[in-house]
Amino acid sequence: MSGVNKNIVILISGSGSNMAAIAKLAQQRHWRERFGARVVAVLSNKADAPGLAIAREQGIATAVLDHKGHPSREAFDAALMAEIDRHEPALVVLAGFMRILTAGFVTHYEGRLINIHPSLLPAFTGLNTHRRAIDMGCRFAGCTVHRVTSELDHGDILDQAVVPVLPGDTAQALAERVLTQEHVMYPRVIERLLEKMASSNEG
Ligand code: GAR
Repeated sequence: MSGVNKNIVILISGSGSNMAAIAKLAQQRHWRERFGARVVAVLSNKADAPGLAIAREQGIATAVLDHKGHPSREAFDAALMAEIDRHEPALVVLAGFMRILTAGFVTHYEGRLINIHPSLLPAFTGLNTHRRAIDMGCRFAGCTVHRVTSELDHGDILDQAVVPVLPGDTAQALAERVLTQEHVMYPRVIERLLEKMASSNEG
């Protein structure tokens, strides 16, 4: 891990809107000057992830590691770790990275690995969270930022945002409203973690 520099590596698989929100707050709130922190790289397991173009436009280094090119989950995660470690990250941020990670990967980044999940965990781990919340008759949905453990969508909760389910809601409409909250919550959680790291460095 880097000492003075708090490098942030973000992993995506899709549109990268959370990644963009994080990069934006990093600029707006001067993470580099305040914490020595910046988003140094955005990695994707999908070459056509639209978020890659957004990252490049912002001058952030990008790399693609296609999981299909690796014989096993372990082999892919080993290659991913090698790519991530080139950046000596203080934080590895999963932002719509749609891969189940091996225990070896999770252990390697223990204390540095966080995820956002589109439900109020521990409810609705896994996929299709909004559809399942509507079908269950939930009055509230939302999103969770949590530390990553080797158990899928578990780990200490760092923050949550609650979004009401409206009468007649579709999964897509609910997903869009939750996503808006994700964009607010995720960057703020990261800022709080950076503040914590900065104060423990001082002590
Ligand atoms: C977000 O809603 C995120 O919570 C979800 O994927 C979306 C990614 O959007 N993540 C998961 O479902 C992880 N299990 P984005 O690429 O626009 O940030």
